Amino acid sequence: MIEGEAQLADSFRRAMRRVASTVNVISICVDGQPMGITATAVSSLSLHPPSLLVCINRAAAFHAPMGDMSHFRVNVLHRDQSDMARMFADRSQHALRFLSGWELDATGTPRLVDAQATILCRRIDSHSFGTHSIFIGVAEEADSRDEVDPLLYLDGRYCGADE
Ligand SMILES: Cc1cc2nc3c(=O)[nH]c(=O)nc-3n(C[C@H](O)[C@H](O)[C@H](O)COP(=O)(O)O)c2cc1C
Repeated sequence: MIEGEAQLADSFRRAMRRVASTVNVISICVDGQPMGITATAVSSLSLHPPSLLVCINRAAAFHAPMGDMSHFRVNVLHRDQSDMARMFADRSQHALRFLSGWELDATGTPRLVDAQATILCRRIDSHSFGTHSIFIGVAEEADSRDEVDPLLYLDGRYCGADE
């Protein structure tokens, strides 16, 4: 990498640390086994049809099964669920991830019961870009918790919208 590119990578990382992102756990069911990953690279795509996109690193264990799924669920974390965010970003906590707080929906996809919001999507498309794949889902069901207090990730730490 030439020096200019290294500098750009640093300044890009620094710039992105100033972007507040809502924290999500994406969940799927693989051969009857629940699987999930913490992800901030999630974006609303359109209202007609109601759709969103999720970006997953190809190096993640979640990547290959995600490509085979008919459905995935975006569980938007509530501010009091930072432990859930840490657990689904830490491979060493794999066995603990679905022990409590989850139920299976009619498609068999895990649903986080106390999530800030949860959106079941049919996976309809994917695109590769660099180290990641972009998965597009059309929403089939969406629920929200009345209280609006999502978990955010900003400058490398978890916080709420008012701090
Ligand atoms: C706050 C936060 C946000 C993350 N966002 C994403 C993301 O959007 N996409 C992604 O592929 N990985 C993301 N990661 C990394 C994955 O959660 C982590 O690497 C994952 O646990 C790797 O899965 P594996 O250990 O099962 O391979 C994020 C991690 C953290 C802590």
